[in-house]
Amino acid sequence: MRKDFLTFGAPLIEEEEIKEVTATLRSGWLSTGSKVHRFEDMFKEYIGARFAMALNSCTAGLHLSMIAAGIGIEDEVITTPMTFCATANAIIHTGARPIFVDIDFDSMNISPIEVRKYIKSVYDVDKKTGKPVNKNTRKRLKAIVPVHFAGRPCDMDKILEIAKEYNLYVIEDAAHCVEGVYKRRKIGNIGDLTCFSFYATKNIVTGEGGMVTTNNKDFAEKIKIYGLHGMTKGAWHRYSDQGYIKYNVVYPGFKYNMMDMQASLGIHQLTRVDKYLKRREEIWNRYDAAFRDLSIATPSPIGNDIVHARHLYTILIDEDKAGISRDEFQKRLYKLKIGTGMHFISLHLHPFYQRAFGYKKGDFPNAEYISDRTLSLPLSAKLTDSDVDDVIEAVRQLANQK
Ligand SMILES: Cc1ncc(COP(=O)(O)O)c(C=O)c1O
Repeated sequence: MRKDFLTFGAPLIEEEEIKEVTATLRSGWLSTGSKVHRFEDMFKEYIGARFAMALNSCTAGLHLSMIAAGIGIEDEVITTPMTFCATANAIIHTGARPIFVDIDFDSMNISPIEVRKYIKSVYDVDKKTGKPVNKNTRKRLKAIVPVHFAGRPCDMDKILEIAKEYNLYVIEDAAHCVEGVYKRRKIGNIGDLTCFSFYATKNIVTGEGGMVTTNNKDFAEKIKIYGLHGMTKGAWHRYSDQGYIKYNVVYPGFKYNMMDMQASLGIHQLTRVDKYLKRREEIWNRYDAAFRDLSIATPSPIGNDIVHARHLYTILIDEDKAGISRDEFQKRLYKLKIGTGMHFISLHLHPFYQRAFGYKKGDFPNAEYISDRTLSLPLSAKLTDSDVDDVIEAVRQLANQK
């Protein structure tokens, strides 16, 4: 057995980041400044989008994207229950109602078939505005928020088709999907707004941090201003060597800006984004080969028309087949010093969403099946070959053969 505990999602931080953070600390400028602007420029180029706005989290990005799209208390927004709570909470913080729609079993992403079915059965299309209005709540359906779960791009053609037909915004949660490509189009350059995460366990990290990309100038300006108190000029403009510049408050904004301290990590992490993806692909392929004969399900194969960002390697442990429950499997892995994650407990099973919106067990069979059985194995570029051997050995020790 391993000597030290293998932490799930530990990031790979290299010497360049450490030097850059130290230089930032010595520079006298810790908050939003030239390094954030450099990171935004680099990210914009990487994605191929017109605008990229760095923020202190993907959660902030989702919230500001909703605001930029004008979503509010009269509105409803469709999303997946198989996501982190931040996706739904960002909708709720605008006063809008989150509408969960079940996932496709294989991709674990929101099912466009279910989305269309739901819209057809629950909404009337207002003849004047062309927008769907809920027959019961009288609220308007304003947007779809697809989540590229585990790094696998959603079926964007079908989602965009529905959005076009019903006049909906598409705000993508790409927290897992910095590297994703869908039919030769880079994730971040497809929907109206796309939100990325650089949280400590993500594919590239800034500790806490996020980015929104868009090709819409109006959205970009709103996000910039709403992200820093609603002011027309940030501190960089007020205190730089160009002389003090007055600002106006034009919206009641938020404090969501990224710091140069965080961008010091991002500007170097981004140069290695493809190298890290390659390493996670190697680990993924080793897991696939090593678990082929076991009674656990591994992620479904990846089509040629996408680049999967390989954020999470999720296995499904069905007690009837594996002879062990998911929770027990996880406990035993911890005893073998292997840390794991659980992505996700479907949102409709959490008390808040049940209490506030009446969701209940049984509402989303696919999401629920996965939620009850899923376990995420370590998949960081930081893993050594011997770490990967340890994970494989531990999983093989605990799972029955087919
Ligand atoms: C699908 C999804 N969306 C949004 C977030 C929020 O990201 P952040 O921690 O950067 O706010 C996460 C974070 O884990 C996530 O997994």
